Amino acid sequence: MGRIIWFCVISTLLSSTFASCCPSHCSCFLDTRGRNAVECRQGGLNGTLSLDGMDASMEVLRITAPEDNLNALTMNPTIQSYKRLEEIHITRSNIPNLGTHFFWGLDKLEILNLSQNNITQPLDHNFRGLQSLKELYLDDNKIYSLPSGTFRYLINLATLSIQRNRMHELMPRVFQQLERLQVLKLSGNSLVKLNPEIFKDLKALSILECRGCALTEMDPEIYSLLPYLTHLDLGDNNISKLNSKEFKYLTDLKSLNLDGNRVSSISNSMFSQQTQLEALSLARNELSVLSPSSFTNLKNLTELDLSYNKLEHVDATLLKPIEAKLNRLILSGNHIPIGEIRDLLWRNKVLRTLEIADCGLTEITEFVLPEKLTVLVLAGNYLSTLSPEVLPNTLSQLDLSRNHFRGLSEEMMQRIDSITTLKLDSNPWTCDLCHIIPLLSRVNRTDVFSLKCASPYHYVNRLLGSLHKDQLNWCTAPSYTSSDANYYLTVDDSKIGIIAASASVALLVLIIFAVLAAFLYSKRHAAKYYTHEEKRTDERESIFENQSPLFGEELSFKFPMEASEKKVAIATIDEIKNHALSNGT
Ligand SMILES: *[C@@H]1O[C@H](CO)[C@@H](O)[C@H](O)[C@H]1NC(C)=O
Ligand SMILES: *[C@@H]1O[C@H](CO)[C@@H](O)[C@H](O)[C@H]1NC(C)=O
Ligand SMILES: *[C@@H]1O[C@H](CO)[C@@H](O)[C@H](O)[C@H]1NC(C)=O
Ligand SMILES: *[C@@H]1O[C@H](CO)[C@@H](O)[C@H](O)[C@H]1NC(C)=O
Ligand SMILES: *[C@@H]1O[C@H](CO)[C@@H](O)[C@H](O)[C@H]1NC(C)=O
Ligand SMILES: *[C@@H]1O[C@H](CO)[C@@H](O)[C@H](O)[C@H]1NC(C)=O
Repeated sequence: MGRIIWFCVISTLLSSTFASCCPSHCSCFLDTRGRNAVECRQGGLNGTLSLDGMDASMEVLRITAPEDNLNALTMNPTIQSYKRLEEIHITRSNIPNLGTHFFWGLDKLEILNLSQNNITQPLDHNFRGLQSLKELYLDDNKIYSLPSGTFRYLINLATLSIQRNRMHELMPRVFQQLERLQVLKLSGNSLVKLNPEIFKDLKALSILECRGCALTEMDPEIYSLLPYLTHLDLGDNNISKLNSKEFKYLTDLKSLNLDGNRVSSISNSMFSQQTQLEALSLARNELSVLSPSSFTNLKNLTELDLSYNKLEHVDATLLKPIEAKLNRLILSGNHIPIGEIRDLLWRNKVLRTLEIADCGLTEITEFVLPEKLTVLVLAGNYLSTLSPEVLPNTLSQLDLSRNHFRGLSEEMMQRIDSITTLKLDSNPWTCDLCHIIPLLSRVNRTDVFSLKCASPYHYVNRLLGSLHKDQLNWCTAPSYTSSDANYYLTVDDSKIGIIAASASVALLVLIIFAVLAAFLYSKRHAAKYYTHEEKRTDERESIFENQSPLFGEELSFKFPMEASEKKVAIATIDEIKNHALSNGT
């Protein structure tokens, strides 16, 4: 342990003799670009970084450590004698502040990665002599301040990353001399406000990231100083107001992330200059209404993320101006009625990815889904059946997880066989002969093999892959009966032999379930007068194909929670019905 011990092997090859040295717990090799690389990843190194006896031709040095065996190193000025170094990565090594003129003479150094150390305040002379440096990474240190001109000797720097440090403000002229800087990443510093002054030196900046910077607004002057910006990420901040001309100077913008803020409205002209924009994320904001012309000028948009907002309606013409290129649309986590989603995407032939997870959908009818779709996410809805005709033929990825499926039909499975990525987990799979046979015959798919039964009782959490058809019982949950009396009759008629054989324990459990469910059911009815419970229950019964309200979907210990989820679902049905009525469809 302790210092690095270097092993040198003297080899004789034909007439020439050369020495290749390698530290004891490092590896030395030619990297993919044919450079001499030294890599030490074992960790546990402490004291001054020792480079004694190291081959002078080293071009790439990489020292890091596993999470449970971090290094505790201080830098060693002798590194200056390795004049051929092009990359230095010393990470997870608890390096404290750097010394004066530390990298002096390393004219070829292009990449310096000092992430995950204990640097608190870099100073300009730390970087003196690195005139070729193109990329500097200081992520995950404890930098609390950067004096003006910190990077002024790095005249060729193109990428500067100081993410997840402890800065609260940036000094004026902190980026002095960084005229060639293209990429600036400041995410994860609680900067609250960005002073336009600091951007005056960054004439070439094209990528700016400040996620999680606790920003409440952006001074419009900043944008006027950054006309070449192509990528702007202001996600996970606290921005609530966007000026109606907020982005007017950013005419080259290709991607804009505003996800995770508190934006509640988008003015019509907000994106009027962003004809180059390809990806826009407004996910996790507070949008409740979008004007039909919100995106009119975004002719080059291929990706639009509006997920987890408060949208309850979308205008059917919202996507018309941009539908020629729109490839990926994410509407998850809103409560837009399925009829409006259909109208929004009507006859769309371009869309490839559609995500409508957590949208309270209870059914997907024909003609809703665009015909060329390859990726469809329907996770977290209330679907219990899905007809194969609904799914586009081009589909290659389908996510039906977190729904209410108890089984899938053979027709559905045949349709799904060609889908390469399938997610079916977290559904109440009912492992009996009525529901699970088509799935069970596909357990050689790993995505089916690992599904878990939710019922019957004795197969709860059993992997589908560990079940054999012969082990299945007749239908334990009465999907096809409508009254309690019939339920018991069904049990008596068809299961009498099995019950006798598997002792009366199962029956006892069923009775307890019945009593519990009946109790909760009556409680729900007692609360009818201030909700529309009656109506909902009626509709619910018709929707779930006459399943018993007692022993249908909700036969589970999670009953109270499921009931509240249901209300959302049912509200959506109401809306669908109303919508359908008003549309006369
Ligand atoms: C380095 O580690 C060795 C053994 O693990 C220990 O004896 C020594 O005190 C450590 N040195 C420093 C500077 O922490
Ligand atoms: C810098 O080091 C960190 C920590 O080891 C690593 O995650 C990151 O990918 C490195 N960056 C580059 C550009 O190599
Ligand atoms: C990081 O450096 C500070 C002084 O700059 C020191 O007090 C602290 O102990 C160091 N942290 C670790 C984990 O060594
Ligand atoms: C966001 O800003 C509001 C004021 O606009 C403030 O009250 C709130 O604490 C801020 N939230 C966070 C997480 O910074
Ligand atoms: C879309 O982008 C391409 C390439 O960047 C550009 O040539 C074209 O003008 C853009 N379309 C519009 C409508 O601006
Ligand atoms: C699974 O089994 C079916 C026939 O039972 C076969 O057609 C299919 O190729 C198998 N798939 C895999 C991934 O083994």
